[in-house]
Amino acid sequence: MPLVPMRTMLDHAAENNYGIAALNVNNMEQIQAIMMAAEETDSPVIIQASRGARKYTNDAFLRNLMLAAVELYPNIPIVMHLDHGNSFDTCQSAIEQKFTSVMMDGSLSEDGKTPSAFEYNAEITKKVVDAAHAVGVSVEGEIGALGGIEDGHGAGLSQEEAMEPLTDPDQAEQFVAQTGVDALAVAIGTSHGAYKFSKKPTGDVLKIDLIEEIHRRLPNTHMVMHGSSSVPQELQDIINEFGGDIKQTYGVPIEEIQRGIANGVRKVNVDTDSRLAITGAIRKVFAQSPEKFDPRDYLRPAREAMAKVCKARMIAFGQAGNAGKIKITTCKEMVDFYKK
Ligand code: G3H
Ligand code: 13P
Ligand code: ZN
Repeated sequence: MPLVPMRTMLDHAAENNYGIAALNVNNMEQIQAIMMAAEETDSPVIIQASRGARKYTNDAFLRNLMLAAVELYPNIPIVMHLDHGNSFDTCQSAIEQKFTSVMMDGSLSEDGKTPSAFEYNAEITKKVVDAAHAVGVSVEGEIGALGGIEDGHGAGLSQEEAMEPLTDPDQAEQFVAQTGVDALAVAIGTSHGAYKFSKKPTGDVLKIDLIEEIHRRLPNTHMVMHGSSSVPQELQDIINEFGGDIKQTYGVPIEEIQRGIANGVRKVNVDTDSRLAITGAIRKVFAQSPEKFDPRDYLRPAREAMAKVCKARMIAFGQAGNAGKIKITTCKEMVDFYKK
């Protein structure tokens, strides 16, 4: 089967109440790890590349690695998604490079850092939706800006001020109506990277109740949770045991993600956990077998460690067992769907 659009996959997840891990990649081993886990668990997959990943890997390598995955795993539906597109041109070039889904992150300005105005976000996202849907490609938008409430406290902000960047449900409704996005990323207090929370997060810093509220208002909108690595203790420990220096930190507990999934979250972004797994495995080989210098000796265990994390997420989010159940549509077929 060809690379498939994300919309059909998320619709199936919504109809059957599960979530799908959207896993970031930068190289061949990461794509292989995801596909190994997908085959083992019979999971549909969303594989995503950031702008940084596209620059590092090069679109031609990325596209052909993804096509190799399609060829080698004909029974697994695979979405190739652009993570955090910062402009119309970035999204357009991804579509030209055969991505079947793009994120236009208009919650930030084109510099990818400065929070933007609602009007800018809605306008640029709508422009991407029009161009993408014309060729059957799915679009994810974002409303509210990602970032930790704890970080805000650390910077001296009150709870109210620290919560300001979170998604406003009124704006979420307006944004979905104005743009027609297929999926909506919401800001609920998570942040990218390993350092999300200084202790196991409670409801004052991780706002799953906000997801519940948005889901009540937009029951048919597929929500996306970014910054959703769980930063498992054992992965921190392996890195530190073999010479690394990860300060004690806490991620998003799996049971909180599952609460999100029960309330309309269909795409769960995970990158950091894969990075931690890979780094731990490589450090272990370097520390235990300093005489080794064949990259396969450390990249193979790294790939296996990432596959193990992917497999665990696929099972926990409920996508396992669903690869064969999704009725596959092509981007071409989605063109008519969007015309209706
Ligand atoms: O958005 C965050 C993802 O983890 C991608 O990270 O921009 O370093 O590739 P990156
Ligand atoms: P993590 O850093 O929590 O893995 O989040 C990844 C992400 O949101 C990619 O867009
Ligand atoms: Zn993200």
